[in-house]
Amino acid sequence: MLKIAVLISGNGSNLQAILDSIDSGILKCSVEMVISDRKEAYGLERAKQRNIKTYIVNRSEKNISREILELTLGKVQLIVLAGFLSILKGEIIEKFRNRIINIHPSLIPAFCGKGMYGVKVHEAAVSYGVKYSGCTVHFVDEGTDSGAIICQKTVPVYNEDTAETLQKRVLVEEHKLLPKAINYFAEDKIRSEGRKVFVIEE
Ligand code: GAR
Repeated sequence: MLKIAVLISGNGSNLQAILDSIDSGILKCSVEMVISDRKEAYGLERAKQRNIKTYIVNRSEKNISREILELTLGKVQLIVLAGFLSILKGEIIEKFRNRIINIHPSLIPAFCGKGMYGVKVHEAAVSYGVKYSGCTVHFVDEGTDSGAIICQKTVPVYNEDTAETLQKRVLVEEHKLLPKAINYFAEDKIRSEGRKVFVIEE
């Protein structure tokens, strides 16, 4: 069974979606640990309710990536960034090459990169006037939101949308897309050729 670590910074609704998908039998993996860079993150409560091990890492610490590497190396096969707002750097990227995935609330390469997270992404999409937005699950590499794209889902953007209404619509899709992406790993369906990622369906 695929063992995963889920990294969070806040509410943890994506973590909840993973746990719910496991409960319903759609997703076959085991959440070995939840790591947060904020001690007040509500997602930590969600993990504790399930008796999942939780760790808090210090986000102002230069060695945060090393700390996470030490917690995860040899213990999990996949690291899932589910609303984790610190940037992973250094050895962890190499050691977990193509084994760290992130969910981002836009259609990358739009509205992503440094400083683009949470509701800011949706504010940018609404003020730009795009007709579609969505969410992306991608590999984490040395850049910010620059790794190869695994899967995406679009949602329409309406004239009357605010950042908050768009955020809600995108979040509904995130909760389906992230468990689906993890399942690709659990079922060993992912193949990559450079930036192109293929999902092998029997
Ligand atoms: C999600 O919308 C996720 O895509 C976003 O933060 C939110 C976390 O929600 N991540 C980013 O913006 C990363 N750049 P959650 O804590 O309820 O899962």
